[in-house]
Amino acid sequence: MFDPQQIRTHFPIFSHRPELIYLDNAATTQKPISVIRAISDFYEKENTNVHRGIYEMAASTSQKYEEVRQKTADFIGAAKKEEIVFTSGTTASINLVAQSFLIPRLETGDEVVISMMEHHVNLIPWQQACKLKGAKLVVAPINKAGELDLKIFKSLLSERTKLVAVTHVSNTLGTINPIGEILEMAHKRDIPVLVDGAQSAAHFDIDVEAWDVDFFVFSGHKMYGPTGVGILYGKEEHFTKMLPVHFGGNAIREVRFEETVFALPPRCFEPGTPNIAGVIGFGQAIDFVSSFDKKGVKYHLQRLTELATEKLQKVKGVKIVGTAKNKSPVISFTLGNVHPHDVATFLGAENIAVRAGHHCTQPLMDFYKIPGTSRISFAIYNTMEEVERMAIVIKEIQRFFNGR
Ligand code: ALA
Repeated sequence: MFDPQQIRTHFPIFSHRPELIYLDNAATTQKPISVIRAISDFYEKENTNVHRGIYEMAASTSQKYEEVRQKTADFIGAAKKEEIVFTSGTTASINLVAQSFLIPRLETGDEVVISMMEHHVNLIPWQQACKLKGAKLVVAPINKAGELDLKIFKSLLSERTKLVAVTHVSNTLGTINPIGEILEMAHKRDIPVLVDGAQSAAHFDIDVEAWDVDFFVFSGHKMYGPTGVGILYGKEEHFTKMLPVHFGGNAIREVRFEETVFALPPRCFEPGTPNIAGVIGFGQAIDFVSSFDKKGVKYHLQRLTELATEKLQKVKGVKIVGTAKNKSPVISFTLGNVHPHDVATFLGAENIAVRAGHHCTQPLMDFYKIPGTSRISFAIYNTMEEVERMAIVIKEIQRFFNGR
């Protein structure tokens, strides 16, 4: 039986801040004690570098670090742990693909297809690559509900398309994109596809091998893990053809003043000392997420989303932005003429944490002709009572600003 009250006991923040109603989970999730302990234990009891020391403690750290790589591969259904690169976050993962995979292949007149709902990080690296190489960024439109039109999407793919980059789940609208169909369309034309899984990795079934996706990127901190750990999954056939773009120690086989022979992937993409404690903590986050029945989690998040939607719709002036049929537990809304920052400030004063603004999706805000939204996003520890409280406060905000 899925019991959010029991789940909350794993998260020390809720005993330190019993009044906190944390509804900003699309920005970052809270951390369970197992993740926090793994990080502090590492520094307290076995701090060493990886892939360098020969003494027992260092060898054990390297082994633990590599075990998390295997665990990550298993978690997302990758065939081999060598297809997993640890980065500092989704941002670094996407930038690495842009610099190491796309730019060397991109020529004048080529195109990169993204969608209108992309987070800035799944837009700017491609935009800049296109500028550099005289290529074109093509943007697949969405309807007012925040859904892609797959017919139009298909019509945008051509022999000029060198990459498709789409988000699995929109951080602003909550739309769940039909990535299976997008992958099929793109692969029919031999176009590689990058899927941004930052908002989906925690609660969705991910199977990169079954999907046949070329690149899948996500962050540890949005799935109950630490900040500063990102994952880049890439097909072996791509990784072996990509040259590193960041250089430094530990990513090489041989260095002479004249020439460097790089290590094989994934090591060649991880120069310098990585976020060892973070990766070890991330391993615990995978265990934590994997310990729940995904169906139970999905059902719980769906109930929270349905209740919040229903309650918000009853508040005069509330307009939900993003009403896709297939939605994740993210609700963006506007409240009449009240600025989203005022809504978030008011909620914050009542210990309710939400994000307000453009959510790093300015072109999407332009499409809706709004400066921003207030955004509620749920995680496994949220409760129906929290939703009820949030709705009461939103009603108070409405009355406060509109006087009725
Ligand atoms: N991308 C994160 C968000 O949507 C930070 O809030």
